Amino acid sequence: MALTDILPGTLGFGTAPLGNMFRDIPDDEARATVEAAWDDGIRYFDTAPLYGAGLAELRLGEALAERPRADYVISTKVGRLILDEKEDVSARDQGEKGGLFAHGRDNRVVNDYSYDATLRSIEDSLERLKTDRIDIAWVHDVAQDFYGDSWLEKFESARTGAFRALDRLRDEGTIKGWGLGVNRVEAIELLLDLDEPKPNGCLLAGRYTLLDHDRALQRLMPQAAEQGVGIVVGGPYSSGALVGGPNFEYAPAPQAILDKVARIKAIADRHGVSMKAAGLQFSLANPAVAAVIPGASRPSRIAEDRAALEETVPAAFWRDLRDAKLVHPEAPLPD
Ligand SMILES: NC(=O)c1ccc[n+]([C@@H]2O[C@H](COP(=O)([O-])OP(=O)(O)OC[C@H]3O[C@@H](n4cnc5c(N)ncnc54)[C@H](OP(=O)(O)O)[C@@H]3O)[C@@H](O)[C@H]2O)c1
Repeated sequence: MALTDILPGTLGFGTAPLGNMFRDIPDDEARATVEAAWDDGIRYFDTAPLYGAGLAELRLGEALAERPRADYVISTKVGRLILDEKEDVSARDQGEKGGLFAHGRDNRVVNDYSYDATLRSIEDSLERLKTDRIDIAWVHDVAQDFYGDSWLEKFESARTGAFRALDRLRDEGTIKGWGLGVNRVEAIELLLDLDEPKPNGCLLAGRYTLLDHDRALQRLMPQAAEQGVGIVVGGPYSSGALVGGPNFEYAPAPQAILDKVARIKAIADRHGVSMKAAGLQFSLANPAVAAVIPGASRPSRIAEDRAALEETVPAAFWRDLRDAKLVHPEAPLPD
C-alpha cells in the first residue's frame, strides 16, 4: 500500500518534544498539545519508544485513548527496547546526539534490531499507546549519527531482523506499512538499493528541509519517487531554528545556521511570508514527499502549522530564494 493511501493528509504531528526532549513539559501541557492537534483535524501522529524512554508514547496514548481508533493513524518505531530497569540518562550512548531526552524517563534503553526484539518492541508500544494496533513501524536510527562507523553492522542486523519481522507483520495485515525512520540519507539509499524487502515509505528527518536538502535531492528523492516509496519529512524546522527556536538538529544552533535563517527571513519578510509556510511548503513541493510532521510541545504551535500550510506564498518569494542561492537550483518549488 502506498504511504499516501495510509496517511490521512499531508500534515501530521511529531511527538519527539513530548518525550521532554528539551525541557520538562508538564503532563497537562503535553496533553493539551495533542488535543490541539486533534481539534485542528490532524489525524496522523508519529512517536517512538526512544522519545523520553516511553514518555511520548504514554502521553500520546493517554491523550488519544477516548478517540475512535479508526479515526487516526499512528506510526511508532522499532530498534529500541525500553526496560523497567533504570539507568543514568546522561551515560546513554547516543552517538552525536548525546544528552537527548535528558528530561525524559530514566528507564534503560537497549538498542536491538533483531527479529524478536522488533516483535517485542511493537507489543510494548501497543501497551504504552493503549491501543491494539499501530499503522506504520519505522526502523529507528540505523544510521551513522547514532552508531558512527558501526552503523552498517546495525543496518545488517536490521536487514536480517527488523525488516523481516515487519515484512511478515505487513503480509499478515497487522501493520499497514513500514520503512526507516532516520536522520541520514545514506541509510534510506541503502534500503532502496536492496531488491527485497520493499518498504512502503520512510521517515527522513532534517534532510529535506529548507535548511538542508542538497544531498537528498540528488539521488534519494528521485529514487523514492520512482519506487513509489513515500517520504515523511520529520524535523521540517530543523528542531526549531528555522522558525525562531534556539535549537538546530537537537543542539543550540550555530552562528552559521542563524545567519542563513536570517537571510531567508529577510526575503520572507519582504514578501510577507511566514517562515513556517516557507519551511513546510518547500518540503511538500518535492513529489516524493507524502507528509510533513512538525513537532511541538505547546498547543499554540498547531494553529501556526496549519496556517502555514494554507498560506498563499507568492512565486516571487521562491524565485528570490533561488536567486540568492538559498535553495538548490534544482529543488522543486511550490507552484
Ligand atoms: N529518526 C527519526 O525517525 C526522527 C528524527 C527526528 C524527528 N522525527 C520526527 O519528526 C518530528 C518533528 O521533528 P522535531 O520535533 O525534532 O523538530 P521540528 O519539527 O523541526 O521542530 C520542532 C521544534 O520547533 C519548535 N517551534 C515550533 N514553532 C515554533 C515557533 N513559532 N517559535 C519557536 N520555536 C518553534 C518547537 O518548539 P516547542 O517545543 O517549544 O513547541 C519544537 O521544539 C519529531 O517530533 C518526530 O516525530 C523522527
